Amino acid sequence: MPRQIIIYAKSVLSHLPRLHFYGIEGVLYEIDGEEKDKSWEMYLKIVDFLIGNDFKKSDLLVGVGGGALLDLVGFVASTYMRGVDVVFVPTTLLGMVDASVGGKNGINRPFLKNSIGTTYFPKKTIIDTAFLATLPEEQLLSGYVEVIKIAVVHSFKNCHLNKGDFIDPKTHEDFLRGLEYPLSEKSIEKARDLKRQIVDEDPDEKGIRYLLNFGHTIGHALEASMDFSITHGEAVQHGIRLEMAILGFPTWLQEKIASFLPFKTPFPRIDSAKFGKILQRDKKNRSCDIAFSNVVHHKMRDFLVFFPYEHVIKIVEEVMLDDCLYSSNG
Ligand SMILES: NC(=O)c1ccc[n+]([C@@H]2O[C@H](COP(=O)([O-])OP(=O)(O)OC[C@H]3O[C@@H](n4cnc5c(N)ncnc54)[C@H](O)[C@@H]3O)[C@@H](O)[C@H]2O)c1
Repeated sequence: MPRQIIIYAKSVLSHLPRLHFYGIEGVLYEIDGEEKDKSWEMYLKIVDFLIGNDFKKSDLLVGVGGGALLDLVGFVASTYMRGVDVVFVPTTLLGMVDASVGGKNGINRPFLKNSIGTTYFPKKTIIDTAFLATLPEEQLLSGYVEVIKIAVVHSFKNCHLNKGDFIDPKTHEDFLRGLEYPLSEKSIEKARDLKRQIVDEDPDEKGIRYLLNFGHTIGHALEASMDFSITHGEAVQHGIRLEMAILGFPTWLQEKIASFLPFKTPFPRIDSAKFGKILQRDKKNRSCDIAFSNVVHHKMRDFLVFFPYEHVIKIVEEVMLDDCLYSSNG
């Protein structure tokens, strides 16, 4: 039996006895398991802990926590001794439906989220919805945004643009059926499966997988410019709204997709200069143009579409102003 080292988020301490059901037992290492821990410093701390515990290449690393912890532990696993086996136990909805699927991991540097990372698949992922019992509502909603995004991307992938439909209503309905909030175990598995299908088609993210970044160009810049004081899902929800406007979706479609999104909050008041700087550093950009997932015209095989920075910032400022007026009136 390989020895196991279990890196877990402080917030799931009370759930740890459940790990015995899955044969997970070993040396425990507690971290906060938040976005701030996706850092070079925490990466080195864990590596030093593994070395200090004589952790061998044949041993097993286990990550128990939300998407932030899994991104960090996945990165450690992929680089420690050029790669060791890792098991993921996602404990947030977002971790279950999104972060534990697809093999992406990473840590952040100031102003650039996920700037260092690899693609590395866990040996196994354990989905146990009992962990969700202690998850705050806003974190559940945050995960639900990614479920909606996956369903919408899938529906675009299968739509028939030549019929004039942006979303084939039947496909859309099929994908969303059973994904209503709150999610059942079956629908969590369905959301994982929808994401997996896209990842399997394009594991190296050279084409269709770019569509899964829908909402994330704006979302990532927003969360970084707010020093991660907003949940990932809420930032992505604002991203989806803005990116629909930037991509020029017809109003009826923007409204239809927005009606599925769970947060009721206005676009936050942000420092648009700071936001703009972060946006310009997005790794998918080309020269001065900002890259977005081309969910609308991807049948032309261009999975990314580029817009001038000025155009993007203008829309961001318009939406921020509109939301601000709307929320102060109502
Ligand atoms: N690798 C990928 O493909 C991928 C995909 C999507 C998101 N992500 C990353 O995932 C991260 C966001 O993940 P997240 O939304 O899970 O947030 P998170 O990991 O930051 O967790 C949010 C908070 O919930 C706490 N928590 C975790 N499980 C809990 C539980 N069962 N009960 C109570 N509290 C609990 C955590 O300790 C943390 O404080 C971001 O860094 C994002 O970039 C990665």
